[in-house]
Amino acid sequence: MVYIAQCVTGIPRYIALNKTSLAAFWFLLTFTPTVTTGARPNECDVIPTRDITAAQTIWNYMLLNHTLRKCDVIMAMGSYDVRVARRAADLWLDGYGHWLVMSGKTGNLTKQLWTVPEADVFRDVAVGRGVPRERILLERESTNTGQNVKNTYTLLSLLGIQPRSILLLQKPYMERRAYATFLAQWPSSESNPDVIVTSPDVSLLDYPNDDIGPLNDVISVMLGDMQRIFLYGELGFQVKQEIPEAVVRAFEYLQFTGRYSRHFQ
Ligand SMILES: *[C@@H]1O[C@H](CO)[C@@H](O)[C@H](O)[C@H]1NC(C)=O
Ligand SMILES: *[C@@H]1O[C@H](CO)[C@@H](O)[C@H](O)[C@H]1NC(C)=O
Repeated sequence: MVYIAQCVTGIPRYIALNKTSLAAFWFLLTFTPTVTTGARPNECDVIPTRDITAAQTIWNYMLLNHTLRKCDVIMAMGSYDVRVARRAADLWLDGYGHWLVMSGKTGNLTKQLWTVPEADVFRDVAVGRGVPRERILLERESTNTGQNVKNTYTLLSLLGIQPRSILLLQKPYMERRAYATFLAQWPSSESNPDVIVTSPDVSLLDYPNDDIGPLNDVISVMLGDMQRIFLYGELGFQVKQEIPEAVVRAFEYLQFTGRYSRHFQ
């Protein structure tokens, strides 16, 4: 459930969004100039409908919609979103992998949030859902996506594990970057393992919560990731991605507003 804040006088400030109020939500989104969503009921930042439309275009582009199949290793890339750990654990419990790697020390978003490595937080989530400890491998050094990939390779090599297939777990708007980074940075001299990517099944408007923050933060972080799709493809940190014109336009529009530039390089 998300909350729609309507920052126009005379209209109830928050409308809880469930199935029956979905119609009301779309009505607001379509017919009012300013609508905002967020999980903190005392916030009332205003996000124009046009921004949400542009953000949705980028969100959809970041999703790869890979078909899931059983892999040797499930690898969750650490972040402040424990829903990624939950999804990874559930996939392990459903038989999608033999090993479950939790990878990550800190990132820009968890540095100030947690005192233990992301890998440990993610492990605790997985153990809490019933994954046996001895099937969970921890990679506790990475501070960015490239390191997640390289350090996990090193960890698995030390344990004598040469995966033929890897199922990557990331946040929805990081699927494309996780995939493109893996293809560029997995250090194997032999052929790369087959890699597929997935993420928690959450929509953009359902994504904000108390850990992640309100929608404008989500859009800012996602825009920073979109910028890295452009930059890191050029720098060789990631495999270059085709970027449709509509996605470029949505990015340029959101950049132009100046409201979501907090995570740019
Ligand atoms: C993935 O699914 C989303 C949402 O259904 C869609 O908008 C997007 O174009 C798809 N992406 C790819 C690469 O197929
Ligand atoms: C973390 O933030 C710093 C400073 O804002 C930035 O230079 C760096 O690129 C960021 N790292 C990542 C992985 O986003």
